[in-house]
Amino acid sequence: MSLASGPVPGWLLFSFGMGLVSGSKCPNNCQCQAQEVSCSGRKLSEYPPDVPLDTRRLYLNDNSITFLPAMDLGLLSDLVYLDCRNNQIGEVMDYTFVGVYKLVYLDLSSNKLRSISPYSFSVLSNLVQLNISNNPHLLSLSKHTFANTSSLRYLDLRNTGLQTLDHTAFQNLLTLQTLYLSGNPWKCNCSFLDFTVYLIVSHLSHADDLNATCVEPPDLAGWPISQAGNPLRYMCITHLESRDYMFLLLVGFCIFAAGTVAAWLTGMCAVVYQNANRKSSETEDEDEHGQRVVSRRIFQSKADSGHDGFPQLI
Ligand SMILES: *[C@@H]1O[C@H](CO)[C@@H](O)[C@H](O)[C@H]1NC(C)=O
Ligand SMILES: *[C@@H]1O[C@H](CO)[C@@H](O)[C@H](O)[C@H]1NC(C)=O
Ligand SMILES: *[C@@H]1O[C@H](CO)[C@@H](O)[C@H](O)[C@H]1NC(C)=O
Ligand SMILES: *[C@@H]1O[C@H](CO)[C@@H](O)[C@H](O)[C@H]1NC(C)=O
Repeated sequence: MSLASGPVPGWLLFSFGMGLVSGSKCPNNCQCQAQEVSCSGRKLSEYPPDVPLDTRRLYLNDNSITFLPAMDLGLLSDLVYLDCRNNQIGEVMDYTFVGVYKLVYLDLSSNKLRSISPYSFSVLSNLVQLNISNNPHLLSLSKHTFANTSSLRYLDLRNTGLQTLDHTAFQNLLTLQTLYLSGNPWKCNCSFLDFTVYLIVSHLSHADDLNATCVEPPDLAGWPISQAGNPLRYMCITHLESRDYMFLLLVGFCIFAAGTVAAWLTGMCAVVYQNANRKSSETEDEDEHGQRVVSRRIFQSKADSGHDGFPQLI
């Protein structure tokens, strides 16, 4: 072959140059064409090197990738579609997606996610579809998680370990259309009330509506969470537990007892006062000495000043 015989084949130089400029190398085992890279099901245990820099769609699904390196991912500034479904990814950090801010579609379903840092998605303001379903070890989401994903329309949270959600996490998702919530062990306690009210007023379509049910408390087990708003409101706002009734009873009794004691004390005072009053006028009647007159005047003046306070009984 005449092409291969030269010391530095021109075509090789050319393609190497193109590779540097446009990043058109393709990872081993993957298929690359028209800004689309598919590494689906290639038994990868880590993020593949050499993903072309102009890639717009990247399929990494059905591998054993444990970690998404922010540095490598960040080189793909045109990436709009990232499919990481069915891998072993354990966590997503605040900076994981910082470089891929054009992302429209992100699938992290069927992984081993234990945590999603609060600001992981904070630059993804173009994100339309996010799937984090089938991550049974994911136990909570921060209320900041979706603060900036204001384009989100489809959010799949099925089959995770989520027990509760903060309704304020959803307040910036004004374009959200579909929210999947089934298969989670929802704990319908009073903290959950605001979220269930949000589900009622937000007019979201939740396709799996009736399959998203409360697991706790026993009273509400099996209730669809989209219908749990009213019973929860009753339970949390108007309904009193028997303990509360006991408390009210105790308060009532205390008020009654205090009233009784007060009435008794008042009565005692009145009687003592009357006795003293009567005794003083009797002694004054039978005695003509000046001393007695003085003492009588003292009692008299006391009686005058106390006249408004106590009705004259005798
Ligand atoms: C949300 O996005 C805006 C602009 O898109 C940016 O200024 C702000 O810092 C982002 N918030 C967070 C928490 O990253
Ligand atoms: C999310 O991922 C699961 C599992 O990979 C899939 O079954 C489901 O259809 C996806 N949800 C959406 C809204 O595409
Ligand atoms: C409701 O349950 C959640 C999740 O277990 C918990 O974080 C929260 O403190 C509970 N709230 C109340 C009022 O018990
Ligand atoms: C609800 O759950 C049942 C039983 O698990 C399943 O057959 C049905 O397809 C589910 N419906 C939706 C809308 O997810």
